[in-house]
Formats: sequence, structure tokens, C-alpha cells
Amino acid sequence: MSKLIAPSILAADFANLQRDIEMVNNSEADWFHIDIMDGVFVPNISFGMPVLEAINRHAGKVIDVHLMITQPERYIETFAALGTDNLTVHYEACTHLHRTLQAIKNANMRTGVALNPHTNVSLLEDVITEIDLVCIMSVNPGFGGQSFIENTYKKIRQLKEIILDNNATTQIQIDGGVTDKNAKQLIDAGADVLVAGSYVFKSANPSETIKHLKETANA
Ligand code: DX5
Ligand code: ZN
Repeated sequence: MSKLIAPSILAADFANLQRDIEMVNNSEADWFHIDIMDGVFVPNISFGMPVLEAINRHAGKVIDVHLMITQPERYIETFAALGTDNLTVHYEACTHLHRTLQAIKNANMRTGVALNPHTNVSLLEDVITEIDLVCIMSVNPGFGGQSFIENTYKKIRQLKEIILDNNATTQIQIDGGVTDKNAKQLIDAGADVLVAGSYVFKSANPSETIKHLKETANA
């Protein structure tokens, strides 16, 4: 199956958001990756519901929301109503992860769980069949433009084994510091979806950069 590219809107020009969304619509990107930060779970605040609503008015592809907030279960219905397709919560932010995953499913969204760099993938073993998407953070969450943590490759391989052992259909997403330099190696290790923020939006031709990343990932 083709490997997917999810540009991270966090790195877009917020004063020209509609232009950047149309660029993604007309590109070879597969998903819109949308980072919501609360200033508590992570040391940064990005944007909230009104901005997501505005993005969704123009976005013509899958809306992949990455919640970097405490107690994300408080907002499951809200994100469903805003047109979210994939809702990813952090393992470290959920006391009752199994219950939260059921609630996301009941709200007709795909379930996602993100792991901080220090969180071992084996902690997902008992819920892996409930998860549509695992987001392995390859930087510490909170900011775009950080450098990639090399230990990620090992985590991908370990997670892939857990998925196969449990006959699960979970996709593996990598988030942080992704470029054309590590894309192929990430895919070869077992990744299915690559998130890229600064690499795409800070480039001279974002649409061409997406095309190049898509080709690199699927070579
Ligand atoms: C970081 C976010 C990422 C971020 C990636 O907390 O979850 O999605 O936008 O940005 P880059 O690709 O610049 O590392
Ligand atoms: Zn993200």
C-alpha cells in the first residue's frame, strides 16, 4: 500500500492559511496533520477549535488531529463535530486510555495514540487492536523545526512486531524532524505515514517538496 505524507499545518503561514491549505489540496499530500497544544501537556500553545473549523472549511483531505493536551477525553465530541477523521491522543495524557479509545471510536473517528520519545512502544501491546494509528514522536512534542531522534528506528521496528503479532491493522506514523534524508529509512523500518512541517513549508516550493517526499517514501 502506498505510504502517506501528512504536512503539518503548524509550520504553515497562519496569515496565509487558506493559500497554504489550497497548496496542500492541490499537492500529492494525503492528510492534513493538525497540532493542537494546550501549554500544559507541552510548553507551547498552538491554536484551538475556531482555527480548526476555519481549516476544515477549505481542507479537502483527511483531517488528522494530534492533540497535545491533558485529559483529551474532555473534547472528543467537539473534535468529531469539527470534522476530524483521525483523533490522536497522547499515551502520557490518558489515565484510562482504553476508555478514551472507545469514546473516539463511538464518535466515528479513527483512533490514534501518540508516544513521547521516552515512552516504550510495548506499553501499547494490550490495546493495539483498538488503535488505528500510532504516532511515534521523533522529537519532543511542542515545537516544529527540531532535529530527529535516531532511536525512532528501533521503536518503529518493535512496534511493527507488536502489530503483526496481534494481527492488528494499525498504521505507524512518524512525527518530527522528517525530511527526504530519513524518509526512506523510516519506511523501510515499518512506517506508513510521514508527518513533515518545516521541511515542507520552509522550502522554496512546498508542493514540489511534498511530491519529492512522496516519491522518496514510495521508492
Ligand atoms: C511537534 C508536532 C509536529 C511538528 C513537526 O510537537 O507534533 O507535528 O509540527 O514539525 P517538524 O516537521 O518541523 O519537525
Ligand atoms: Zn504532530
